Amino acid sequence: MNERHAPGYSTLQITLHWVIAALVAFQLLFGEGMTNVREAAEEGATSSGVDFAASIGHYWFGIAILALVLVRLGVRLTQGVPPHPVAAPTWMGWAAKLVHWAFYLMLVAMPVLGLLTVYVSDEFGDIHKLGKPVFLALIAVHVLAALYHQFIKKDGALRRILVPAR
Ligand code: HEM
Ligand code: HEM
Repeated sequence: MNERHAPGYSTLQITLHWVIAALVAFQLLFGEGMTNVREAAEEGATSSGVDFAASIGHYWFGIAILALVLVRLGVRLTQGVPPHPVAAPTWMGWAAKLVHWAFYLMLVAMPVLGLLTVYVSDEFGDIHKLGKPVFLALIAVHVLAALYHQFIKKDGALRRILVPAR
């Protein structure tokens, strides 16, 4: 897919990156609250206040992620993204692309599967839960890559997602 190349990420793109990252962290850390509330409801038991609060947060933060990622993809299409740092070997550029697109896929698929679990069938919950280790693996690779760029390549890749270029 041909991409528009921009000199760097914009303030809006950087804001969306970190707001979405924070919301995803909440979803992964406290998602079990949602599972606990649903299990308690099935057994006719009352769930704890903490689990209940986590489940409300899970529902609305999840929907916010879906809305924000759609905005983010729209912005990506119109503003473009900077090319992968040139000094890196090509396979790393491809690996970065693969991880970024896998993130976008997960950021859309997870909220959709969550909504299907609530409104269509519990069976989607099993697939939704499988998304947790996938997300964790992607984040691990992504963060290791960012640290590699920062401390070994020293090519300013991390700075691009912290300081707007325009
Ligand atoms: C990117 C967004 C999301 C992420 C990363 C995410 C992640 C998670 C995680 C980690 C769990 C707990 C899995 C476990 O107990 O092992 C979970 C459970 C659950 N989530 Fe999400 N979630 C997201 C969005 C949503 C949305 C938008 C909804 C619904 C509107 C939703 C509904 C549920 C439900 C119903 C469960 C319980 C599943 C079950 O008990 O079978 N999630 N989610
Ligand atoms: C759940 C957490 C995160 C998600 C879902 C996520 C997702 C993404 C995505 C999709 C991109 C590609 C943007 C594009 O060009 O379209 C990106 C870029 C980037 N992210 Fe993350 N990210 C997360 C956390 C982090 C963390 C914790 C760090 C730093 C340690 C980080 C550092 C970066 C950097 C440096 C880039 C720019 C890459 C480049 O210039 O080619 N991200 N992130």
